[in-house]
Amino acid sequence: MMYRSPLKWAGGKAWLAKAVEPVVDKEWKVAEPFSGGLGFSLFFGFKHVHASDINWSLINFFQCLRDGSMPDIIQVEASGPFYYKARDRFNDLIEQTAPNKIQSDELSTLTWFINRHCFNGLSRFNKKGRFNVPYGQKKKLDLNSLELCEQFGLAAQHWTFSHGSYETSSLADADLAIIDPPYHDTFADYDPSGFIEEDQIKLVEWLDTQSVNRVIATNNYNKFTASLYREAGFSLCRAPVQRKIAAKGASRKTVFELVALKGFSANEINKMDLIQC
Ligand SMILES: C[S@@+](CC[C@H](N)C(=O)[O-])C[C@H]1O[C@@H](n2cnc3c(N)ncnc32)[C@H](O)[C@@H]1O
Repeated sequence: MMYRSPLKWAGGKAWLAKAVEPVVDKEWKVAEPFSGGLGFSLFFGFKHVHASDINWSLINFFQCLRDGSMPDIIQVEASGPFYYKARDRFNDLIEQTAPNKIQSDELSTLTWFINRHCFNGLSRFNKKGRFNVPYGQKKKLDLNSLELCEQFGLAAQHWTFSHGSYETSSLADADLAIIDPPYHDTFADYDPSGFIEEDQIKLVEWLDTQSVNRVIATNNYNKFTASLYREAGFSLCRAPVQRKIAAKGASRKTVFELVALKGFSANEINKMDLIQC
């Protein structure tokens, strides 16, 4: 069964899932160490997924849904003053629960509410680790997305989660790893530590130490990323994607994303809906 993410998340990978669908086996064990909205794994509805992310509120939210705890709409209301109060409480709860990874239903509710009601579903944390995206002016609670939360709970029955930077999670025994880091040369304030060029290099070095059957890595397509992944022995493809260029979302332009592949045969790559480089 095909699912959609209950969160609005920049850089969703449902398009990538469609492009590689002809060669993907739904029985594979999948690892997503930069989970974001988990659009790729949800598209296929894999039974076994290990997802991790440096964003604790995200991992807490997914764990709560898997364990049957849905966002509690009684606790929230769609208004600017409420949003800013909720944002303070959300930040305080992250500080209180993240160090010992204490699962919190209240934090999960606020994660859902803030994601649906902040400006453009952005996720941005300041240097002190506090979420700082302003209110998105939505007048009503987005109740339709609650159904996606319930579906996530069903899809993720056997999924496991961990919180931390990618190198604290292991790809061992995965049939497929999806590597979707903050992109080179673009917005990277998902986390106060950022993700600079040196981090892109360290990530590729780390991938080389992992025993995993197949890897699909994505990034901005440019000279730096193409040569980084080519030198590490990946097969390179490109895919055109539409990016918003204005705050109101009216203007879009086509850019190319890099899809770097390891562990796939030439025949399998030919079946993918990607442009080979
Ligand atoms: C491009 S988004 C992933 C998009 C996602 N795959 C999707 O389909 O929606 C990048 C993610 O990497 C996470 N992240 C940033 N730095 C990280 C790190 N060092 N280790 C693990 N996750 C990190 C961010 O919190 C964010 O969720």
